[in-house]
Amino acid sequence: MSLLEVSGLKLRFYSLDGPIEPLDRVGFQLEEGEVLGLVGETGCGKSITAKSIIKLISYSGGEIINGSIIFDHEDLLSKSEKEMQKIRGAKISLISQDPMTSLDPVYRVGDQIIEAIQVHKKLHYKEAKKKAVELMRLMGIPLPKKVFYQYPHELSGGMKQRIIIAIALSCDPALVIADEPTTALDVTIQAQIIDLFNKLKEQFQSAFLLITHDLGVVAQMCNSVAIMYAGNIVEKGSVKKIFHSPNHPYTKSLLECIPKMNQKQKKLMAIPGSVPHPLHFPTGCRFYPRCQYAMKKCLSQHPGLIKVDNDHFVACFKYSNNSNGE
Ligand SMILES: Nc1ncnc2c1ncn2[C@@H]1O[C@H](COP(=O)(O)OP(=O)(O)O)[C@@H](O)[C@H]1O
Ligand SMILES: [Mg+2]
Repeated sequence: MSLLEVSGLKLRFYSLDGPIEPLDRVGFQLEEGEVLGLVGETGCGKSITAKSIIKLISYSGGEIINGSIIFDHEDLLSKSEKEMQKIRGAKISLISQDPMTSLDPVYRVGDQIIEAIQVHKKLHYKEAKKKAVELMRLMGIPLPKKVFYQYPHELSGGMKQRIIIAIALSCDPALVIADEPTTALDVTIQAQIIDLFNKLKEQFQSAFLLITHDLGVVAQMCNSVAIMYAGNIVEKGSVKKIFHSPNHPYTKSLLECIPKMNQKQKKLMAIPGSVPHPLHFPTGCRFYPRCQYAMKKCLSQHPGLIKVDNDHFVACFKYSNNSNGE
């Protein structure tokens, strides 16, 4: 059994315009020590998937109305809030999308790491401090004993992100969910944080669910990838398969949108149209209004994921044997 098994996940929110279901039939697995990239355009449902896994979605007003989330052989959806508090931070930690506001401005960063350690581990202040400084050193923070006493506003964006990653890893979680961990950073700092993650995944035994809209980040960090479009997983597989032989028209378009340094390109490709709002999801395949290969059945029938290979699945009628639309 995998470390994390998400299947058939469906979410509902109640908006002023009526109920919306921004996630449907979302499923993927993550093995121990694996780095899975969850990729898609803004608004496709990546962050709400992350919040659902650690059951924080109800705090955003969302309700899980279908599906299951099995983590380390345990059914998370049947856990109480009290039980989830023991899991969050200790076994699964979340690096949320906005690193600049994740730290408390009125506490020294070192004490914030210590707090994260002491919530789950019975360590005295002195021992916890030693561990915090050691973690800061592992995160590549220069002069960690000095930075320990600094406040978040005294640190650069990259340093703050290193502190946040230290907090996330402070209890050796089996799973780290990192929601757009590099998006808010400058490009050079992004590259440093990617390097840091790559080092950390060797040192810690954690699995990572890396959420990003950037396929470049996936190529540098992940073993496998799940492509999300309008609240559905449309393709998933090993990074090699998805990058070298993508099947879904959306995945192909996403890859064509990446500028290539070694090729003369006249104009950068863009996918026509935009991701629909959950109130206006098309029936059938949600990508068909933007798809150049759309067939009749795509308008009315939902394509389920089909197996292309042992490490490759796609949700598209173009690849199903009975694709008899026109
Ligand atoms: N608190 C909320 N209330 C209502 N709808 C929400 C809420 N959070 C997210 N959604 C809906 O879910 C969709 C996906 O959101 P999100 O997961 O944040 O996207 P992203 O892929 O950019 O992380 C949004 O477009 C929105 O329609
Ligand atoms: Mg998001």
